[in-house]
Amino acid sequence: MRRPLIAGNWKMNLTPSEGAALATQLRQRIGMRSDIEIVLCPAFVALPAVAEAIRNSELKLGAQTVFWRDAGAFTGQISPPMLVAVGCEYVILGHSETRGRFGVDDADLDASVLPYFSETEATLNRKMRAVLPHGLKPILCVGETLAERDAGHTEQIIRAQLEGALAGLSADELYELVIAYEPVWAIGTGRVCEAAEANRIAGYIREVLRTLYDEELAQVVRVLYGGSVKASNAQPILHQPEIDGALVGGASLDADEFEQITYCAPTR
Ligand code: PGA
Repeated sequence: MRRPLIAGNWKMNLTPSEGAALATQLRQRIGMRSDIEIVLCPAFVALPAVAEAIRNSELKLGAQTVFWRDAGAFTGQISPPMLVAVGCEYVILGHSETRGRFGVDDADLDASVLPYFSETEATLNRKMRAVLPHGLKPILCVGETLAERDAGHTEQIIRAQLEGALAGLSADELYELVIAYEPVWAIGTGRVCEAAEANRIAGYIREVLRTLYDEELAQVVRVLYGGSVKASNAQPILHQPEIDGALVGGASLDADEFEQITYCAPTR
């Protein structure tokens, strides 16, 4: 049975002391739950403070991205062993914002500089290969833009994203993989993907895993939904059979909202 997972992606919000305060609140409310897995993903600088706040609870720590080399002259980057050293168990990879939405959304940035800021299928594959040997569990995000959906390319895009990120990795290495289906048009927009459609795509993700690997891996990997999940809409999404949890952005910054979302997950 796949254990439900609710992850909070705090994005570029909360200083270390603010993060520790939110983590302490969550610890008091839901810190001892073992029926589901709950992961907090603060900004890099807040990781140690949040790790301290959730020490000896059931809450887990995750980072929002990582570089693929262990050490070296890579100014500004953070390595997999650094994340492990501060207590991370999970790392988000391929979020649409780190895949390059900053550039797309920012009128001041010329399209030609986008590749320098963006994760690509090739760099994501490097990151996947880099984190797994350190025991970090990837939360790999995939999802289509509105234009891609409207053109009928959703499945094709998701398959290409999965094939790119997982290239050269064996099933044995991927049992702890978590995949988040995050339609780009539903992130931070208040436009949630309909539960049945999110379930269909989660099922499609399993189908891709089945064809790339085998039935066992397709059944073990947890598939989350992400995109404008709130306490008021989480219930139907989290009760879909192919969906094993949620990657929550904005609503994860509010202790009440996030707590309520965790109670919408069925315990399997
Ligand atoms: P959102 O973000 O919940 O604010 O839409 C989700 C995400 O980006 O992971």
